Amino acid sequence: MSLVLGFESSCDETGVALVEAPEHGSLRLLAEALHTQVAMHADYGGVVPELASRDHIRRVLPLARQVLQQAGRSLTEVDLVAYTRGPGLAGALLVGAGVAVALAAALGKPALGIHHLEGHLLSPFLAEPAPEFPFIALLVSGGHTQLMHVRAVGDYELLGETIDDAAGEAFDKSAKLLGLGYPGGPALSRLAAQGDELAFALPRPLLHSGDLDFSFAGLKTAVLTQARKLDAANGGAMSDAQRADLAASTQAAIVDVLVAKALRALKDGGTRRLVVAGGVGANLRLREKLDAGAAKLRAAVHYPPLSLCTDNGAMIALAAALRLRHGLAQPEHGGAFDVRPRWPLAELGSAVS
Ligand code: KG4
Ligand code: ZN
Repeated sequence: MSLVLGFESSCDETGVALVEAPEHGSLRLLAEALHTQVAMHADYGGVVPELASRDHIRRVLPLARQVLQQAGRSLTEVDLVAYTRGPGLAGALLVGAGVAVALAAALGKPALGIHHLEGHLLSPFLAEPAPEFPFIALLVSGGHTQLMHVRAVGDYELLGETIDDAAGEAFDKSAKLLGLGYPGGPALSRLAAQGDELAFALPRPLLHSGDLDFSFAGLKTAVLTQARKLDAANGGAMSDAQRADLAASTQAAIVDVLVAKALRALKDGGTRRLVVAGGVGANLRLREKLDAGAAKLRAAVHYPPLSLCTDNGAMIALAAALRLRHGLAQPEHGGAFDVRPRWPLAELGSAVS
């Protein structure tokens, strides 16, 4: 039995969590705490890296105290301190990594740096029932859109990815064009619920490309063009109903491509399990369409709990526990560390151990 304290600070969320990891069997999330910087960055329309780092510094230790208190455990009981080593904002990563490694050194316990996307990828293992290997993973976050074939912990084959913007970015940029706040994904999907997704025919980039790559950069141009047309036709500003229709049509375009490619990956990969991870995985329309499409293929779709779809400390603690359990990583002693702001998931095996 071991206790893993996990720190996530790669972008605009400070996450801390305590996970109990028995030698065999399922892992248990004992407590988690999160501070989101969304309100702080909202005025700037996006994440300001320097502000993000400073806020992580302010939040990280109080959150750690909160988690330990909530779980009724003391710091000395922690066996391993895990942190996000990358990819992400360099300054933000350094805060979590520095705190985690210093804490581990002070306790005389090991630390372990984790790949942020591996955290997302494995996060459904905190849900019941946990998926069985092998599975196809659709990773859809603010920075990444990837389809992976996951054969085991640490065995990830990249099947396709975005050649430009990520799905979350497409949501965020389109939302900005529609005058919605940051981050745009949740705001756009809320507005979309009131609109007609058939109102505007927006492009579905690479839908028929025959491969598993994505492209979302052209979509925002189409949204902008449509928005300008509507504004011009309505004396300068489109109506609320039109804005909702455009939000719904945008969401449908993004979701259609994600669903089509994910289902194709399932068919090609000969597996009946799909795991969806990353912030866009919280999108309810995406979930509805994936569930319906997968049911036709008699495949099961696994989602992390809604609260664990976006960045959090639990997925980092979990990934550390699983890597150790499978002998894929050596815990680090001695207080030396680095961060990897750019870190392809494919490099994982050699880069961590
Ligand atoms: O995984 P995540 O929290 O952070 C990154 O690692 O990027 O993902 C954040 C992204 C943002 O682009 C946000 O707009 C999007 O996930 N997102 C959503 C929803 N909730 C978050 N996009 C669409 N619908 C949602 N409900
Ligand atoms: Zn993320």
